[in-house]
Amino acid sequence: MAEIAAFIFDLDGVITDTAVYHYRAWKRLADEEGIPFTREDNEALRGVSRRESLNRLLKGREIPEADAEAWMARKNAYYRALIREITPADILPGALAFLDQARARGLALAIGSASRNTKDVLRSLGLLDAFDAIGDGDSVARTKPAPDLFVWVAGRLDLPPGACVVFEDAEAGVEAALTAGAYCVGIGPAERVGRAHVRLPTGLSDTTVDALLDQLASARRQHLEISDPRN
Ligand code: BG6
Ligand code: MG
Repeated sequence: MAEIAAFIFDLDGVITDTAVYHYRAWKRLADEEGIPFTREDNEALRGVSRRESLNRLLKGREIPEADAEAWMARKNAYYRALIREITPADILPGALAFLDQARARGLALAIGSASRNTKDVLRSLGLLDAFDAIGDGDSVARTKPAPDLFVWVAGRLDLPPGACVVFEDAEAGVEAALTAGAYCVGIGPAERVGRAHVRLPTGLSDTTVDALLDQLASARRQHLEISDPRN
């Protein structure tokens, strides 16, 4: 892996807590359509695209394409109504300080989110100009857990994915980052993001950029030792 030159942040659940709004919008649709849907079911939707979320909500049941389109549009309308009130106060604790520290170290900063609402959310947070590249649900055809979005964002930064650290709160996102060949910092419980190189149980407030870069360096050394055939 190359020297670390950039941080790529997922948006929902990493920079701001929109995950709860996605849940409430799907829940409203599910209730209206008589589909059982719990908070536990919602865990499987974290990080995946709108279309894949609908597939998972339907648990294998097939519906006509016109209905699928209409349901996704309805869910998005509910979601957009919920995020209308977002302000810079909704940036998660520690995120701004972390971005500032990373900038001060000369790292490039980017967003890699599956959401088609990414730019609107960033605008409401006052962060639209805070990043060197923004990859969203319209940037690539294959969404997380495919590596395509992070490869695309790294390309926009003119860097190999191996020079990037991806921050993710979703299992699908961790898989996407690792498959892309990036470093990965997982945010949340081990059963969700345990495959990441480093895990932050709460969020970006758990660490500083300096401490994290040290941790990643030792994770990398361990990895090199484990994969060294002389061991
Ligand atoms: C991800 C969320 O960031 O974006 C998912 O974690 C969501 O829950 C996905 O389904 C797509 O979002 P949108 O805004 O395009 O419906
Ligand atoms: Mg997320």
